[in-house]
Amino acid sequence: MSDTLRATPQPAPIPLSSKPAPGPPRPSETRSRAGKTACIRTFGCQMNVHDSDRMRRMIQDAGYAEVQRYEEADLVILNTCYVRENAVDRVRGHLGELNRLRREGRVKKVALTGCIGAAAEAATLQRTYDIDLVLGTHNTYELAEFVGLPTMAETYTPELPGTEGEHGAFVTIMTGCNYQCSYCIVPTVRGRMVCRPRQSVLEEVDRLVEGGTRYVTLLGQTVDAWRHGGERFCDLLEAVSERAPRVWFTTSHPSNMEDRTLRAIGERESIVKRLHLPVQSGSDRMLKIMHRGYKAERYRRKIEVFREAVPDGTLSTDIIIGHPGETEDDHERTLELVEDCGFDSAYIFKFSPRAGTEAAELRDAVPDERVVQRRFLEVLRAVEQNAFTRNQRKVGGVEEIYIRHGSAEGGKAIGETWSGHAVHVKTEARPGEYVRAKIESAGPHVLYAGDPVA
Ligand code: SAH
Ligand code: SF4
Ligand code: F3S
Repeated sequence: MSDTLRATPQPAPIPLSSKPAPGPPRPSETRSRAGKTACIRTFGCQMNVHDSDRMRRMIQDAGYAEVQRYEEADLVILNTCYVRENAVDRVRGHLGELNRLRREGRVKKVALTGCIGAAAEAATLQRTYDIDLVLGTHNTYELAEFVGLPTMAETYTPELPGTEGEHGAFVTIMTGCNYQCSYCIVPTVRGRMVCRPRQSVLEEVDRLVEGGTRYVTLLGQTVDAWRHGGERFCDLLEAVSERAPRVWFTTSHPSNMEDRTLRAIGERESIVKRLHLPVQSGSDRMLKIMHRGYKAERYRRKIEVFREAVPDGTLSTDIIIGHPGETEDDHERTLELVEDCGFDSAYIFKFSPRAGTEAAELRDAVPDERVVQRRFLEVLRAVEQNAFTRNQRKVGGVEEIYIRHGSAEGGKAIGETWSGHAVHVKTEARPGEYVRAKIESAGPHVLYAGDPVA
């Protein structure tokens, strides 16, 4: 069984995906004028999806046509994730396949970018798989030179232009992370926190909205830690919510989350009423070992404020099962917290040791795999039960649904309510448009709407 399970298929806060990143309408899959083709595969979280958008812009500027199959690509770019070992295993699988295609003369060059690229292990992978170019997260801009564009000035990545779809766009407001959670490799591969200046964020938002973007997602590992010139995240969020017609943000940290931000979600019409607030564990003892910097009580209080300020909102979280030192009692505390918070969805991960992190040194304290598996399923069931019950409340209501993914050949479009619920709806409406429809049924992960109403 996979060691990652999402209790919901909602547009993922931190998904692992090998699918092509959602992007603009695909250019023709035929060879471009210059005959050069490139394929970008994205693994990992939204930061990587966003970085892939920037690389997509570079390869397009360099005259490459984007293709979706390795077999058709001269250049393959794997934009990778290092957060858990299974993310690396998947990339190894792809690299093996690419070597075979290269031997057959079908793929010419392979580039490995993103978080593995920023880790020491990249050098071993480069040797083993004979990778042509390895870039970390801070020098993505060097891809420009590799594909024959003029050398870009060194810049921190957020300033590079992206090529998101016309209707929805990510806007990076901070990079890196100043926390040192015991288990986490992100600060190593993404560096310390750098907050992007307010002016720069707002200018990008204005530009995007003028260009037709209807949904802006503010991005960063701990967006609510954003600070600039005496302003805090809530100030920035409010300014963005006045400029963009639909706004969301991810990911937040419970230690930084201010009550006024939670209230702003409820008060500001343009903010999607969905909060992703990773808790990791319900046990104070584990939260301390993990260096999360808050107790379960603070987390519960935040959720109370959120539920009161945003009664119809949805709440999601991340939970790690089997971190070194986790006892049965700690697990019970997590189950209690899941009950109390009534999450609408959760990303549940089995602990994966990452070389160089504090928790990787504590491996002898990792619970037995069978124990981890049982705890994992218990938490998953608790989350799903809550989510199912909560989703039933939506049945019978008419919702305004923002279309995220249009329907493909007779299938249903995937949309999102203002409450942040994922909805399947039968409509020809295109991404970025709204339809109104009655919710006819609900599962633990998704709502199902009837035909749109006028
Ligand atoms: N910045 C975000 C999340 C970063 S990584 C935050 O602080 O919440 C996304 C999720 O992966 C984390 O929330 C955590 O639940 C999980 N994760 C990170 N490192 C992990 C590891 N070594 N093993 C298992 N899960 C991990
Ligand atoms: Fe990792 Fe913790 Fe930073 Fe999130 S806050 S990215 S879990 S170190
Ligand atoms: Fe994201 Fe994975 Fe890197 S979760 S920051 S792509 S290690």
